[in-house]
Amino acid sequence: MSVAPAFPLTTLARGAAGLTLEGVALVDIAARFGTPVYVYSRAALVAAFEAYRGALGARPALVCCAVKANSNLGVLSLFAALGAGFDIVSGGELARVLAAGGRAERVVFSGVGKSRVEMKQALTAGIRCFNVESAAELDRLNAVAGELGASAPIALRVNPDVDPKTHPYISTGLKSNKFGVAGDEAFALYQRAAAMPHLAVRGIACHIGSQLLDPAPVSEAAARILALVDRLAAVGIRLDHIDLGGGLGIRYRDETPPTVAAYLAPLLDTFKDRPETLCFEPGRSLTGNAGLLLTRIEYLKHGEEKNFAIVDAAMNDLARPALYDAWHEVVPVVAYDVPPGRYDIVGPICESGDFLAQGRDLALEAGDLLALLSAGAYGMSMSSNYNTRPRAAEVIVDGDTVHLVRARETVESLYALECPLPNAHAPV
Ligand code: LLP
Repeated sequence: MSVAPAFPLTTLARGAAGLTLEGVALVDIAARFGTPVYVYSRAALVAAFEAYRGALGARPALVCCAVKANSNLGVLSLFAALGAGFDIVSGGELARVLAAGGRAERVVFSGVGKSRVEMKQALTAGIRCFNVESAAELDRLNAVAGELGASAPIALRVNPDVDPKTHPYISTGLKSNKFGVAGDEAFALYQRAAAMPHLAVRGIACHIGSQLLDPAPVSEAAARILALVDRLAAVGIRLDHIDLGGGLGIRYRDETPPTVAAYLAPLLDTFKDRPETLCFEPGRSLTGNAGLLLTRIEYLKHGEEKNFAIVDAAMNDLARPALYDAWHEVVPVVAYDVPPGRYDIVGPICESGDFLAQGRDLALEAGDLLALLSAGAYGMSMSSNYNTRPRAAEVIVDGDTVHLVRARETVESLYALECPLPNAHAPV
């Protein structure tokens, strides 16, 4: 007899009341908060973070959660309380981190397009490091820091030119990508940075891609980074930290990603006798499988070629299937004894690309609740208001308690910053 694999969200289970997360039935969450709603498990979030900390042991290290994966204040506050740092890519993300109780001195600022305003904001807050991605950015940061009478801590994001073997849209460490500076260029750029009056060289950074399932490319990138660190030391440029980015993949369907410990082991080995602090920027592996999207079927529609389950969540809530053809497991919250069919799970948005899943064999009826798994990373944070759809609520389950950490948006709030043209009725 074949045994169904356990859910990738380990605190999710099936009981008499259907699916339960920690001690709460998803049916009750839907009744209390409505649908669609993002539901996260506190225990799963904590376990994901602790897996990094456990694997890093006593080594000087900092786990900087990638805010882009899940930027909800409730989630960020939990990581902040666990002692996390944060990887940000905008002034907005910095504001979120600070509002959630995160510490600026544990923040690294990545991204290819930092504005002057964002640089000032981050310098004033006192972040740990700017991960600089180009020569032009180095010049701008030096100038902005000078205007503030400050010294900007920097790392160069080096593009190690290794193939991460992942989806081309989320691969970032190849020469053809817009990210980072080329390894050859980096050495000269470090020397330039070291001579700039308002910069303090602190570290080196790299990030080669996301949803990585094979630790080998990261190890190769780490070896290249280490060679550069040694070359820099030989000319008197010593670094405090080495930031190896994020990227560890998760199981969406049948992938078998390495455990955090297995992923980190070769890296820890490469840097085992080194005094530098090792930084990591995980996103997906912290939150991806700690959350799901709960949605209700509005209608079943049986077409000539396909059956559709039209649900109340859509591509504006979870963009990954439409954007990347990504797979999210679809699990009926209560398993009813009705004839199964093959369904596309689609939303109400006026686009053919508005699907959440395609060709799934499921036993469904209108009104049923569905859980879309592995939606805790790049789910809500990539959502939009397309079709003037208020974004979903977000809750964190904590044992048998449920905390609302983002109320459902109201329609009025979606156009609160707009106004009718005052002379719309004027004759032309
Ligand atoms: N650090 C940097 C500089 C990054 O660019 C990223 C992700 C991370 C860390 C976090 O990577 P993670 O551990 O989550 O793989 N929207 C796509 C993923 C885009 C990732 C962009 N950068 C998706 O839904 O699959």
